[in-house]
Amino acid sequence: MKIVTVATTAFAGQRPGTSGLRKQVGVFMQPHYLENFVQALFDTLPDKAGQTLVLGGDGRYHNRVAVQTILRMAAANGYARVLVGQGGLLSTPALSAVVRKLGASGGIVLSASHNPGGPDGDFGIKYNIANGGPAPETITEAVYTRTQGITGYTIVEGGTAIDLDTLGTITLGDMTIEVIDPVAIHAQLMASLFDFAAMRAWFAAGHRMQYDAMCAVGGPYAKAVLEGRLGAPAGTVVNGEPLEDFGGHHPDPNPAHAAQLMAAMSGQSAPDFGAASDGDADRNMILGRDFVVTPSDSLAVLAANAHLVPGYRAGLTGIARSMPTSCAADAVAKALGIASYETPTGWKFFGNLLDAGRVTLCGEESYGTGSDHVREKDGLWAVLFWLNLLAATGQSVEQIVRGHWARFGRHYYSRHDWEGVATDRADALVNSLRERLPGLVGTRWPEAGAACVAAGVADADIGAWQIEAADDFAYTDPVDGSVSHKQGLRLLFAGGARIVLRLSGTGTQGATLRVYFERYEADPSRHDLPTQAALAPLIAAAEQIAGLCLRTGLNGPAVIT
Ligand code: G1P
Ligand code: ZN
Repeated sequence: MKIVTVATTAFAGQRPGTSGLRKQVGVFMQPHYLENFVQALFDTLPDKAGQTLVLGGDGRYHNRVAVQTILRMAAANGYARVLVGQGGLLSTPALSAVVRKLGASGGIVLSASHNPGGPDGDFGIKYNIANGGPAPETITEAVYTRTQGITGYTIVEGGTAIDLDTLGTITLGDMTIEVIDPVAIHAQLMASLFDFAAMRAWFAAGHRMQYDAMCAVGGPYAKAVLEGRLGAPAGTVVNGEPLEDFGGHHPDPNPAHAAQLMAAMSGQSAPDFGAASDGDADRNMILGRDFVVTPSDSLAVLAANAHLVPGYRAGLTGIARSMPTSCAADAVAKALGIASYETPTGWKFFGNLLDAGRVTLCGEESYGTGSDHVREKDGLWAVLFWLNLLAATGQSVEQIVRGHWARFGRHYYSRHDWEGVATDRADALVNSLRERLPGLVGTRWPEAGAACVAAGVADADIGAWQIEAADDFAYTDPVDGSVSHKQGLRLLFAGGARIVLRLSGTGTQGATLRVYFERYEADPSRHDLPTQAALAPLIAAAEQIAGLCLRTGLNGPAVIT
């Protein structure tokens, strides 16, 4: 084995965002680009001697090439052992499970999550620490700083390609590479949490499900459990083969991008239960027959019914949600008499709360739900949780959600994504609004109130649509005291309605402005409104207050979920 040091110069812009470093594939394919980032990461981590690294990705274009490079760099940088998923594959939650189960010092996930793949799509890399969760900002910032001063990287030179397809052990110099089954550890973990016997009986009774893996890495995991262990008929999992370009689809499980599943779940002959996961299988979407469950509601429903699931029968210690996620879960926490936490966007903020045992469940409005079983959100876990509830209650998805609303009230919720905004325009919009926040407190938006009453979606007394508080969300981690500023602009109305605005930290082209709307409705006779109508007053107020069309130069949001 010959270790060489390759001289290199720094690339600008290698700062990890909400979830790792994400760029267009072409950027990652530039000579030394990936290597610089990986070397900066290795330089930032303490002594690698005797350490184990877990490595895998969602199988998108460039995954295999990147795995080969990282293995040769890990050997040159002194790792004792690397566990790599067969074919270079590991879903994000599976990597988290493997890191935890096998006591690795960390893991590298190769994924751009729900972003499109293929030669014209995106690629990404993210480091997870020994708890199995995303590295905290102290590490990602240190890595970024290191990328800016890097002058070389070390790598094992040449040699033949490492066989990633055969399970077993390979040596590369002093380092051992173990090619592991990417599915087994995660599947076993699922079996330890859920009532597989009840779920088998649910399928045996003739209930049907469709799981759309969106041609991404979730397919093998879903097939192994649903069709393999739970007896679901073959074909329950569709788009189940991971493809380098995700079949040309946008592997984001929401009603806009999972159109095929939405169509399949419509009509009398549709399956009882529909679900989908994203590129790296950490997101989930839950559907009933002609019924969409919002991720915010999903978190609340899982929390309220956790006692029906073996892994959570002992109760929950607390629930955490990201700030833009609806307050539905807070209502459940209150009823259960447990703590609730509001964190900034991004799964990394849940890690400390989970490690400290302060929360058992956590979730985000962006189709992410998870628990203390790993330190990532987990698509298949959420789907199995729902399946366990369907089997345990004998109810349909819609019945469970309607029962939940009847008990806790309904939190109408929607997110509008303004995509492809020029970066300077997006920054100007957010900066201008941030400056105007103090002046907005106490202002009334009667047009919004009038629209609301005219549409018959609220009482005339809905606080006359007065803004009670407005701020840029800052978070102090209750475990380590670290403070994160500028996490999203919040307009909080009397009566609990909210508008939140923030810029995406996962995109690779221009800026994406996310605008989140939430309004609480206690009255069951008003739980059947079309979501966009129920939120129309807030949508109108956001336009009036922030000047979205004018300032973005766009006619409207590209995606509404
Ligand atoms: C988005 C979601 C966020 C999620 C992240 C990674 O980040 O909004 O909730 O944690 O993807 O899946 P954003 O693009 O908004 O920064
Ligand atoms: Zn993802």
